[in-house]
Amino acid sequence: MNQPKRIDGRRIADDQVNQVAHRVRALTDADKRPPGLAVVMVGDNPASDVYVRNKIRRCEQAGILSVEHRLSEQTTETDLLGLLGDLNQDEQIDGILVQLPLPKHLDEGRILKQISPAKDVDGFHPVNVGLLGIGDKRALVPCTPAGCVILAKEELGDLTGKHVVVVGRSNIVGKPAAQLFLAEDCSVTIVHSRSSNGAELARQADILVVAVGRPQMVDASWVKPGAVVIDVGINRISTEEGTRLVGDVDFDQVAPIAAAITPVPGGVGPMTIAGLLNNTLTAYEAREQD
Ligand code: GUN
Repeated sequence: MNQPKRIDGRRIADDQVNQVAHRVRALTDADKRPPGLAVVMVGDNPASDVYVRNKIRRCEQAGILSVEHRLSEQTTETDLLGLLGDLNQDEQIDGILVQLPLPKHLDEGRILKQISPAKDVDGFHPVNVGLLGIGDKRALVPCTPAGCVILAKEELGDLTGKHVVVVGRSNIVGKPAAQLFLAEDCSVTIVHSRSSNGAELARQADILVVAVGRPQMVDASWVKPGAVVIDVGINRISTEEGTRLVGDVDFDQVAPIAAAITPVPGGVGPMTIAGLLNNTLTAYEAREQD
């Protein structure tokens, strides 16, 4: 089979960031305040540190005001809830993001619920989860699955009637991805660790979205020839030369049979931040309208 097309997440994310930048410039040219994003990080997880720095850098590129709050690993729940309460009231701040994972002593569910749903640019608050579930366009939707939908549309155009199989059922990616593809009039199947026939179901997919956090788990036996494969995984593995990043899909095995596939890195990853900037601008516009 021909070499498959690599879906260039970096280019598509750049386009998205440029579009946000253009809209923000129109606001500031009209003497309006820029959108503002607060990024809260607790502790010093090295992977989170890289993600947070990229988020701040992309905000700057788009003209979005970013405010970083770096808290010590020992921060108490009371202090973190207090900071989020203050950010909820802050007129300059339209979006609040608490980088996950949090240290073990903090109750993630309780903390995410403290963020005002109007400023919940991660789309993790139960109000936004519910709005997405009922197909309400006012939902702020999780950034990574929103990026997956954009990549699939770039590749295929209208997605009506496509069969999407989502592998993984996390609250951050799998479940919201299923909802978002349903909203695009796709048929959606979710495969998870307790599915008895995961590979067989996955082979029915026109679009296969994989978000399991297990390096190279999905091999060619999971993929229908000609499918579009979207790999959400970012895993660091050891090799003879050192370490390298790989996805949840075995790229070398799957690429020859897929119609198109996202590489790791440079596929879904950059789209997550583009989604965050989009959500921050959406939250700004909704707050300014109120
Ligand atoms: N950690 C890994 N992915 C995400 C994400 O999308 N948002 C936040 N806040 N933390 C994360």
